[in-house]
Amino acid sequence: MKLIHITDTHFVKPGEMLLGLDPKARLDAAIADINRHHADADLAVITGDLTHWGHREAFENLKDSLAKLSIPVKMILGNHDDRGVMKSVFPETVLDENGFVQEVLDLPAGRFLLLDTNLEGTHAGWYCDNRLAWLERQLETSGDLPLFLFMHHPPCRLHLEPMDRIGLVQADAFRDVVEPHAHKIRHIFFGHIHRPVAGSWLDIPMSTIRSTNHQVWLDFSNRDTIPGSSEPPAYAIAMIETDSIVIHFHDYLDASEKYVMGPVNYEDWNPSTAAE
Ligand SMILES: [Fe+2]
Repeated sequence: MKLIHITDTHFVKPGEMLLGLDPKARLDAAIADINRHHADADLAVITGDLTHWGHREAFENLKDSLAKLSIPVKMILGNHDDRGVMKSVFPETVLDENGFVQEVLDLPAGRFLLLDTNLEGTHAGWYCDNRLAWLERQLETSGDLPLFLFMHHPPCRLHLEPMDRIGLVQADAFRDVVEPHAHKIRHIFFGHIHRPVAGSWLDIPMSTIRSTNHQVWLDFSNRDTIPGSSEPPAYAIAMIETDSIVIHFHDYLDASEKYVMGPVNYEDWNPSTAAE
């Protein structure tokens, strides 16, 4: 299975700029690149902060851009989003029994669990008892299916103090629910950080990528403010097979020169063949 991971599109109203950048132009460029090179992908998932202010016009602006994407797309909420506005602009959005944007997707690679860590009025991640109960039920009833989690906020500290301060408030309760089932979870895709980060939590591999708009600079000494940067935008391509998951981070606006480094002749380079 081939999955495209996009995050933190931070859409604003048509024609508006955000931090000197046009979020629509940046996502449109990603969509054109995906359509050209990854039209065979099974799905794209956008892991939250779909919009910057949660405005209806911003969601409609996003909808206009996504109409050009040639592969199916799923979205989850980030701290910048508005649940009700998202549902009204994208009526196909699936809600759980408590009205949260949480969904179960059965796909060739396994079962995808899309989580909602949004709480209006805060940039921190919020995963209340109702959402924990939903997740626990999904984990307990998924049998031996390989599982994949998608969430805006990372499940653990990333040692980037300003971002950790707006991390998942119920991290301990979240860990208690996930830990008994960790061996079934093959990967966690998250957003929120606007940086490439990979690692593991409870031995579960996890990763995120840069935003399609603005980025967070890597500064471990900074504690009180979020350091922004103009690093390039990215999306990721995840190749999910039964025995491997390979994730490529792609700076799709990179304008540096591309050239042929040299030919690859397998017979010449393979010692076992060359010896014959
Ligand atoms: Fe964001």
